[in-house]
Amino acid sequence: MQHNNVLILDFGSQYTQLIARRVRELNIYCEIHPFNKIPNNIEDFKAVILSGSPNSVRGEAVLHPDLAEIRGKKSLLAVCYGAQYLAHFSGGEVAPSNTREYGRANLSFVKDQEPFFNNIKTGSQVWMSHSDTIKQLPENGMLLASTHDVENAAYKIEGEQTYAIQFHPEVYHTTDGKQLLENFLVHIAGVNQDWTPQSFVEETVDELKEKLGNDKVVLGLSGGVDSSVAAMLLHKAIGKNLYCIFVNNGLLRKNEFHDVLEQYKGMGLNVKGVDASARFLDALAGLSDPEQKRKAIGRVFIEVFDDEAHEITDVKWLAQGTIYPDVIESVSATGGPSATIKSHHNVGGLPDFMKLKVVEPLKALFKDEVRRVGASMDMDKMLLGRHPFPGPGLAIRILGDITAEKVRILQEVDAIFIGNLKKYNLYDSVWQAGAILLPVNSVGVMGDERTYEKCVALRAVESTDGMTADWVNLPYEFLQKTSNEIINKVKGVNRVVYDISSKPPATIEWE
Ligand code: XMP
Repeated sequence: MQHNNVLILDFGSQYTQLIARRVRELNIYCEIHPFNKIPNNIEDFKAVILSGSPNSVRGEAVLHPDLAEIRGKKSLLAVCYGAQYLAHFSGGEVAPSNTREYGRANLSFVKDQEPFFNNIKTGSQVWMSHSDTIKQLPENGMLLASTHDVENAAYKIEGEQTYAIQFHPEVYHTTDGKQLLENFLVHIAGVNQDWTPQSFVEETVDELKEKLGNDKVVLGLSGGVDSSVAAMLLHKAIGKNLYCIFVNNGLLRKNEFHDVLEQYKGMGLNVKGVDASARFLDALAGLSDPEQKRKAIGRVFIEVFDDEAHEITDVKWLAQGTIYPDVIESVSATGGPSATIKSHHNVGGLPDFMKLKVVEPLKALFKDEVRRVGASMDMDKMLLGRHPFPGPGLAIRILGDITAEKVRILQEVDAIFIGNLKKYNLYDSVWQAGAILLPVNSVGVMGDERTYEKCVALRAVESTDGMTADWVNLPYEFLQKTSNEIINKVKGVNRVVYDISSKPPATIEWE
């Protein structure tokens, strides 16, 4: 099926990905590209959105897109910096604003019955975040709406399907933002709302069938949402030719290796469980530095996976659960090449499985879409709703060196904590939770005996993407019950603390 794609040109705004997510919520397919890299297949895009930017259209750091194939030829919505750009370089004027234009404001319409504002009432709340302001509209500009502090809050260009807004429709505080995007994309640009989880599954399975034919594919399952949904899509496309490998590094949650392996088998996946716990623990022996632990785990994982991949004769592809945020190219403030320089592997030194061709069925999806796609394939709710869990697992939650005994203690503590979150219906309102084993012994008293045992910290955070996070205000009663249960049941622990640090300045994991 040919979708009417929407192109989002990114000028480096912190909200660009949010624009894409709002558009996708309307069942419309969109892609984010850097402002200076208009895709070659521009004819496949029906509408274009210009994002905001930390830069100013005045001065030297102005970011210039090439709109030759866009202006007047496609429906165009310019947001914040985009709106200022259109004004400043088409006969209008942009100047520093006198008042701080940040936060909530209310729209008042200048022109009634403008389709752009269909189903939106005057007074509707919008979110402003800018330090320049449009003093004068561009040539053929027609004012559509103002707020108390911002006269030129929304305008259109006569004779074109070009609309511009100073506020951010993508943020939650703009109450009718989704309606506004729908008005522009569906009713003005005429874009189809046909990007649904079901259509994604059908199209992806067809594409995978065609691309992979009778080839064999190997995929490393982690127990997480992304690799599981990727596996399910591939399974639908190529069945037994998908060879899944699920490695137990000995640092998973209690019983997780067994339980998740059974769940994968229940889904019909061709999966092999490889218990390499001893190999990982050997490699970790004596290591205390977090980065050294991560490296050791990464190295052993590659060795184990490579050994297993060699067992599959004639395998041609490596499947990965890469998602869209991992592949969006970021825009640097200067508009030059992005600051993140990708490391290049020495091809000769790569493990064999890394020389395989790579297939990434989820690389167009955001995390919430991965979950919806999984749900549309009737995948288990528990599997899709699982908290993120780091690749190095409990190794980075055991501060200091790692022993089998410490892993056992932490698995027991973690199982009680997570089990109680589920029992008290708190699990789904928490983004990530886990326990940390501290390298601290403290004095306690049990019965009449003095104890000198380990202390554990519990951590539960709210977040959307792990970049920032807040600790969760768990009920005291829950903490009390959980702490008692841990101290009574887990031999070797006599003290429980709750981590009340946000990220930043702390991080989610302690290592
Ligand atoms: P931090 O601790 O950086 O964690 O605030 C942010 C998110 O990343 C996860 N995390 C990792 N995931 N390998 C992973 O696969 C790692 O080495 C790693 N370190 C942190 C963490 O669990 C949280 O979700």
